[in-house]
Amino acid sequence: MRKKKEKIIWENILVEDVAAEGKAIGKNQGKIVFIENAVPGDIVDVQVSKNKKDWANAFPVKFNTYSSDRVAPFCSHFGICGGCSWQHLPYGKQLFYKQKQVADQLSRIGKINIPEISVIEGCDETTGYRNKMEYTFSTKKYIPPEEFALLKKTEEPFSSKTTEGVAGFHAKGFFDKVVEINKCYLQQEPTNEIRKFIAQFARLRKLSFYDIKEHHGWLRNVLVRNTTTNEWMINIVFGHEDKENRESLLSLLLQKFPDINALLYTINEKKNDSIYDLTPQVYFGKGFITEKLEKFSYKISPKSFFQTNSKQAEKLYAITRDFAELDGSQILYDLYCGTGSIGIFCSDKAKKIIGVEVIEQAVDDARINAEMNNISHAQFFSGDVIDICTDDFFAMHGKPDVVITDPPRAGMHEKLVKKLLDMQAPLIVYVSCNPATQARDLAMLDELYKVTKVQPVDMFPHTLHIENVVQLKLKNSL
Ligand SMILES: C[S@@+](CC[C@H](N)C(=O)[O-])C[C@H]1O[C@@H](n2cnc3c(N)ncnc32)[C@H](O)[C@@H]1O
Repeated sequence: MRKKKEKIIWENILVEDVAAEGKAIGKNQGKIVFIENAVPGDIVDVQVSKNKKDWANAFPVKFNTYSSDRVAPFCSHFGICGGCSWQHLPYGKQLFYKQKQVADQLSRIGKINIPEISVIEGCDETTGYRNKMEYTFSTKKYIPPEEFALLKKTEEPFSSKTTEGVAGFHAKGFFDKVVEINKCYLQQEPTNEIRKFIAQFARLRKLSFYDIKEHHGWLRNVLVRNTTTNEWMINIVFGHEDKENRESLLSLLLQKFPDINALLYTINEKKNDSIYDLTPQVYFGKGFITEKLEKFSYKISPKSFFQTNSKQAEKLYAITRDFAELDGSQILYDLYCGTGSIGIFCSDKAKKIIGVEVIEQAVDDARINAEMNNISHAQFFSGDVIDICTDDFFAMHGKPDVVITDPPRAGMHEKLVKKLLDMQAPLIVYVSCNPATQARDLAMLDELYKVTKVQPVDMFPHTLHIENVVQLKLKNSL
């Protein structure tokens, strides 16, 4: 029989700071301990989950003292649903730690000289800021451990399977269990009412919810998107076609929520939840909604990528455009351009815009967005940046005067960083959603570039995510 591993418990650890990914940091006899679900100022007993020579991971088993910084989370689902994990810190403190993380990572990982970091651009609205939510319908309800223990104690028959069906979010770490959500604060109403209406329709008619393990059931997911101009788009995903009930649900939904501008449905008979290889069918409206940032319009269809906080996206793009120092004479490369949003936002001030993006559909949307905004001096190319951005490509479209790069969390590929060092554009603006990988890339660019401006932006209050914009200039041009 395998010997059971002994639990390692360390007592009275003072949480001192916050590290990358929002993990709290404390020390045990000089060793750094990364602690989940704690905030600076807490004094906790922790159970060690990984114990390395120089560091350890741990989670709290007992809070001896709660930090005086703590506030009561406003959401009843806090700690269970997996989102908004910083709700127990006041917003001002969240911004403080986000700013600090940018500074720490640029200096610790990047090890480069940086100018003073501008004060993080916070959100005016810290709830209702998301323009996109995806809810899941499931047969399996997530029961938190305390509730589960209670159920066992009272010897009630426990099963996470529910005949009623659950509507909400996947529980953290469980692909098959869903937390029933009463009210989520991330998107404006009627987002919760829409989800509840759909679930109630199925419950009343005893229609099945989807079981992702056994792959059967009718009601599967719903995507709710809205814009700052108050357009709403709903795409309901069904596990199989049931025309009568589907039409009945869609028509009742429209009657109940007459503000819906685009109502779509998708039949997903596959085992995975992705709809990227499926075609949503339009039931009502044009099949898309239109977001406005400044004077620019952006088409948003169910599958298109768009920044999920429109108001902060407008600020982020304005900072990016400012950092690009465009005067109308420059050739601008918009790398990792998605649906062309940044390039389009800068279009009045660039002579020519070249966008590169790996997702073909996003490139199609970028072209549509350019056309919608009467922009004829932008071209978009689909493919991996490292395949597209060759010497021939730059020779064909012109030497870059300004490069804006906005890679995913993994940061830029080393080959692209090398190519940027080859091309020597006088100015680069690096927009990042992960300051750690940004710091790594800046360290490579340091060979020729100096960081001249740094501006963190908070796009997602109550979460650990940080966006950071950096301006770099060629050292030999300074
Ligand atoms: C953080 S998003 C930025 C999108 C856009 N700049 C915006 O603000 O909406 C990163 C984009 O990079 C794209 N991408 C990821 N890897 C890529 C690659 N190797 N080559 C080109 N594009 C890539 C993703 O599809 C995504 O659209």
